[in-house]
Amino acid sequence: MARLRPIKQTLIGSIDRYIDERFAEEDYVLKHVKNSSRNGGLADIAVSPGQGKFLYLQAKMIGAKHILELGTLGGYSAIWLARALPKTGRLVTIDNDVDAVDIARNNIRFAGLTDKVEVKQGQALSFLEDLIKDIKSAQIPPFDLIFMDNDKQNYPAYLDRVTELLRPGGLLLADNVIRGGHVLPGTSRDAKADGAATFNELLAEHPEYEAIILQQVGLKGHDGLAMARKRDQ
Ligand code: DHB
Ligand code: MG
Repeated sequence: MARLRPIKQTLIGSIDRYIDERFAEEDYVLKHVKNSSRNGGLADIAVSPGQGKFLYLQAKMIGAKHILELGTLGGYSAIWLARALPKTGRLVTIDNDVDAVDIARNNIRFAGLTDKVEVKQGQALSFLEDLIKDIKSAQIPPFDLIFMDNDKQNYPAYLDRVTELLRPGGLLLADNVIRGGHVLPGTSRDAKADGAATFNELLAEHPEYEAIILQQVGLKGHDGLAMARKRDQ
């Protein structure tokens, strides 16, 4: 699926920059993370500054103390989220890409967040199974917020696992669930759009969530963020 690069020259692109300049200014740490990610050959698909600020605000608004992120990339969104944590708060993030994890660990160190952020390397699915065991045996508390931003093909498989990891009232956020509109029935779908579309259907019908998708259009093109609150028991 082609991403909408020309949007940079449009009114929508200008407005994204207008918003980011005013509400989501990147400090030297976040600029360094962007540069090191680019220089390290990582795909240019981290969340935008405004999306990072949105994640930060969500974490703050629910008073998140324990955050899980799937898909670390260079650590850009992990840093936005970790900055919303209180002193004793923790974020764990996992990526399968060895190079990304290496860059992210350096960036977390550069950001002064090594006490709060753990970057794991490995398969998300088996890590989720490990975390479920740890939570069931009360070795770790459940998560207040989970941000899914890794392989879209596997979003459906992740959904029931992350549900077991969230506390009642916890917040699930999932990036890239609109994929330029390719989740619409009848459109051509690649594996990522197919995963996102299946995830959306499962989430919409899921008895444990109240959910919505925010359609997003900006410098990253046309996509969407799913937001779901796990029901209280
Ligand atoms: C892709 C992945 C992302 O997480 C994103 O925000 C945009 C694009 C991708 O794999 O195409
Ligand atoms: Mg994403």
